[in-house]
Amino acid sequence: MAKIVVHGGSPLQGEVKASGSKNGTLPLLAAAMLIEGETILENVPIIQDVLTMVEMIEALGAKCKWLAPGTLRIDATSLAKSVAPYELVRRMRGSFYVAGALLARFGEAEVPLPGGCVIGSRPVDYHLMGFRALGADIHEDHGIMHASADRLRGARVYLDPRYRSVGATINIMLAACVAEGTTIIENASREPEVVACEEFLSSAGAKIQGIGAATLVIDGIKRLHGARCRAIPDRMEAGTYLIAGALTGGDFTVTDVRPDHMHAVIEKLQEAGFVIHNHGTALRVVGGRRPRAIDVTTAPYPGFPTDLQPNFGVVASVADGTSVIEETIFESRYNYADELARMGANIRVVGRAAIVRGVETLFGAPVEATDIRAGSALVLAGLIADGVTEIDGADFLDRGYEDIVTKLAGAGARIELVGRARPEAAQCSS
Ligand code: EPU
Repeated sequence: MAKIVVHGGSPLQGEVKASGSKNGTLPLLAAAMLIEGETILENVPIIQDVLTMVEMIEALGAKCKWLAPGTLRIDATSLAKSVAPYELVRRMRGSFYVAGALLARFGEAEVPLPGGCVIGSRPVDYHLMGFRALGADIHEDHGIMHASADRLRGARVYLDPRYRSVGATINIMLAACVAEGTTIIENASREPEVVACEEFLSSAGAKIQGIGAATLVIDGIKRLHGARCRAIPDRMEAGTYLIAGALTGGDFTVTDVRPDHMHAVIEKLQEAGFVIHNHGTALRVVGGRRPRAIDVTTAPYPGFPTDLQPNFGVVASVADGTSVIEETIFESRYNYADELARMGANIRVVGRAAIVRGVETLFGAPVEATDIRAGSALVLAGLIADGVTEIDGADFLDRGYEDIVTKLAGAGARIELVGRARPEAAQCSS
């Protein structure tokens, strides 16, 4: 496994461009499977999860071609298979989106259940409940979901309001777009990545009312037509770079962002005492002072995003005072805490809360990333630690952060990737 080696203590200067969103692109790739015709996606990040999803839709029979770095043409006219390969589904949960797309295209889907993962148990019961409501017959056999329907029919689907599941909203919406009649999804996710998918499907002809709202009304149509779409900026990546600029005491600008998607994060950084300048499509942070302690509770959008909770664990670790972090979305998203503790942080995890007593300095240490966001938290910790931090599990960062090492090094960080090259789009051109 590749390692990231960071020498702490260099303030970040200048600017960095936020890439297209990982969690915004994966649903677009699944939505392209519904289209018998050409889809052009722009601003696609070259990261492992996107490459895996592209490999998946190619394996199912679609034709994909990179026209330029970040620009992908997909033609799903030749999509022929309704059986998703286990080898690809097991690599990431987002690949379960193919279930809704295959059900919509073929009236049947055979997709391995994604199973638990390191951040929590992550069931797909809401997805399956939605498919059933639309008339699909579902059974599970040896870890594989078999879904079939003579004809999908519109229905009312009520999602759990505590979570407003991102994945279930996408999967049910994909199936509903071509179902007979009207589907109403209540407590739909309002995350920007879901809204971007709603907008893309609409541009391909889908009849969706309530875009961006918690109640979606979808009138099914026979087929969608080709469309073009630009992936939204990655607000998690942008948030990570803002925090990096703030904590290293830099003067750092993240360009190509959507500040309107980042209110909760900007507010928390301001509460911690950092100055953030909003320049429309760029955010500039000026660091240089020790953060104040902050309390963070994760919640579905527009609340504070769980994906940035580990990053704020690092802010809290060096803050002046005691912070309380509460994770309400995933039950095991504190795997980074023990690793930060090895670097000198004082974090006590009690159930879904973490009590963090800020220390003045973190110290470089060998640590291990166990998921994408734990990985970015450890990079942040390494950037501000005294000495050298060696992060095992760099592959997790490749899954979600485009060129993180190059981007940070370009801003003055002393950071290198040891053991492997970055993912290449060419790997999956066809
Ligand atoms: N849930 C269920 N049953 C379901 C679906 C969800 O109980 O059928 C629960 C989950 O266990 C969790 C909560 O509902 O407790 C919310 O899960 P959600 O379905 O919203 O999450 P997801 O679709 O599995 C996406 C992102 C995650 C992000 C969450 C929350 C993608 C590919 N993944 O996951 O991103 O944390 O929404 O915003 O979009 C990451 O990028 O590192 C990542 C984990």
